[in-house]
Amino acid sequence: MNESLTSRRLYARIAGTGSYLPERVLRNEDLAKMVDTSDEWILARTGISERHIAAEGETTSDLARHAALRAMQAAGVRADELDLIVVGTTTPDLIFPSTACLLQDRIGAWGIPAFDVNAACSGFVYALAIADKFIRSGAARTALVVGAETLSRMVDWRERSSCVLFGDGAGAVVLRADEDTGILSTHLHADGSKKDLLRNPVGVSAGFREHERNAGSRISMAGNDVFKYAVKALDAVVDETLEANALGRGDIDWLIPHQANLRIIAATAKRLELPMERVVVTVDRHGNTSSASVPLALDEGVRRGGIRRGQLLLLEAFGGGFTWGSALLRY
Ligand code: COA
Repeated sequence: MNESLTSRRLYARIAGTGSYLPERVLRNEDLAKMVDTSDEWILARTGISERHIAAEGETTSDLARHAALRAMQAAGVRADELDLIVVGTTTPDLIFPSTACLLQDRIGAWGIPAFDVNAACSGFVYALAIADKFIRSGAARTALVVGAETLSRMVDWRERSSCVLFGDGAGAVVLRADEDTGILSTHLHADGSKKDLLRNPVGVSAGFREHERNAGSRISMAGNDVFKYAVKALDAVVDETLEANALGRGDIDWLIPHQANLRIIAATAKRLELPMERVVVTVDRHGNTSSASVPLALDEGVRRGGIRRGQLLLLEAFGGGFTWGSALLRY
């Protein structure tokens, strides 16, 4: 890793994006055959029509590898040019080695620091903020930041209130040090007092207790409470981001939000006075892919949605913990 500190101000600029979705698509109609639900209910309450599900044996690092290679190709960066790998995930292949280490081996970037960040659905925004600080400090010049998840592995497929929400996927960006522009600010928050409202209670040091293994190796969520807190927290972090950069609500070109629920996304867009055409929405086809949702949406916005170099992008996410955060960047 290059530790040389520079006196010139450096930004971390997104040099390339990539993403990957597993082949299998699970539609609302398919879910209606598994639990007591309907396409109409899911669509009206969440905006979700379908989601992708990893194949048997397909792991988070498999998805991460595809997304990472695509981002590296888009950036024109080889594995031996990377200085750092950070992976946001809450569904690692294993407890250890980290998914970042597994990914590092698979793309052949041996020797550089590689680690996971678990901030639930805010994992990618947290990972991006960390990599940004490495680059700003001069400790790294080129970083691979990934959000990758196989949430389907911890969904209770008998529980209609949560199984309709989640999907699998991965997204990645390559950051490069840039003297002109890039990530302008990041803002991270957490409130551990809300730990019981959204969680997967299976423990390691808390013990693999039998009753949890059977009934609780699953996501549990107080949906309505999470919804209300998420809207407020995201409003606040959006305001904080604008204020920190002396920007007004109309100044953002694109919102790339966490994709949990179309109604939460619409509320944030309204706060920003941004028309929905300037919001990248993938929740209809991806569901909530946790850490993967923001980089998946970013990649879609870049490749198909008209995001252009020089535009101002606001990324935000909210997840279990609770955790939430934002990143403002000049693309
Ligand atoms: N199909 C049909 N009915 C369902 C259902 C489903 N899949 N899931 C729940 N219901 C029922 C409930 O049983 C309840 O029935 P009741 O009124 O007879 O008790 C009714 O629908 C309303 O449930 P409620 O949980 O109040 O609905 P909601 O409008 O809050 O929507 C969520 C539920 C989960 C979609 C919504 O709360 C949400 O999106 N929350 C935030 C989720 C989130 O963002 N999580 C991740 C953060 S990273």
